[in-house]
Amino acid sequence: MNKTSSDFLIRHVTLRQLQIYEAVVRLGGYSHAGRLLHLTQPTVSMQLKKLSETIDLPLLEQVGKRTHPTAAGRQVYKTACNILEQLSDLENTTAELKQVVKGNLQIAVVTTAKYFMPYLLGAFLDLHPQVKPSLTVANRALVLERLRCNQDDLLIMGQVPDNLKVEAHPFLHNTLVVISHPDHPLAQSREIPLEYLSKERFLEREPGSGTRLLTERLFAEQGFSIEPYMELGSSEAIKQAVMAGLGIAVLSLHNLRLELNGGHLVILDVEGFPLQRQWYVVYLKGKKLSLATRTFIEFIRDPSHHKLPLMASI
Ligand code: PGA
Repeated sequence: MNKTSSDFLIRHVTLRQLQIYEAVVRLGGYSHAGRLLHLTQPTVSMQLKKLSETIDLPLLEQVGKRTHPTAAGRQVYKTACNILEQLSDLENTTAELKQVVKGNLQIAVVTTAKYFMPYLLGAFLDLHPQVKPSLTVANRALVLERLRCNQDDLLIMGQVPDNLKVEAHPFLHNTLVVISHPDHPLAQSREIPLEYLSKERFLEREPGSGTRLLTERLFAEQGFSIEPYMELGSSEAIKQAVMAGLGIAVLSLHNLRLELNGGHLVILDVEGFPLQRQWYVVYLKGKKLSLATRTFIEFIRDPSHHKLPLMASI
């Protein structure tokens, strides 16, 4: 039988070999793939050797510490990815036909949402332990990029993009407040005019952050802009800087539960604040949602599931 005929490949290439090969290429090495698939390194090597013998070409080459696919290997990788994706779809479809909520659930959330999503996801998984979750956390700009590329089952963000065709369902309040160190001169003031903030050392999230976008939009609506005293790449860094007395900032209340309860930060009484927004669950219009994804959306939209240690209150 001709070694490249599909019949020959069907008889000799196993799905397990393709799964191992995909993991080795994606993770760039045998040991990472072995750990992921719970296989010893000799087993990984042996299976890849057999796959390479069946294809009759070298599939991998070592460059420095990383393992790379050869030209033939890239084709095998592409095929392996397609087959594995089809199998994952098959798992989702059959689960659906059996009305079992299981399979992958890939969610991307903006950084601020990482303070409450694990609670919601945890409660959901208690009810549906056969769902395999994956949570990617990134700022708004990166989450939007993932949405454009249809990389996730759904996304959680604070502002629905108006330049993409999406379905968006609000499910939870998002309250934005101005915070300072408890000893800040404005901490005891009431109804602080918004323009006072432009005279303060204002700490801002990095460009691409949804929180930053909202804050700048609010100031622009009132006819002035704020020159950030310092830019910091995460809400965590902003909180630490505010607690260190470096300045004031706007953050979502979801970020602040522990620090407010501990008295390390205070909320300033600024005109126009707190800013009441919503969190949205978002996906591309027309996207076919798995049963696990649909069930998760229903779950997070049910307010009775929001009674979790999600947020500080003011
Ligand atoms: P961010 O997004 O975490 O990137 O600031 C928050 C939001 O979208 O409201």
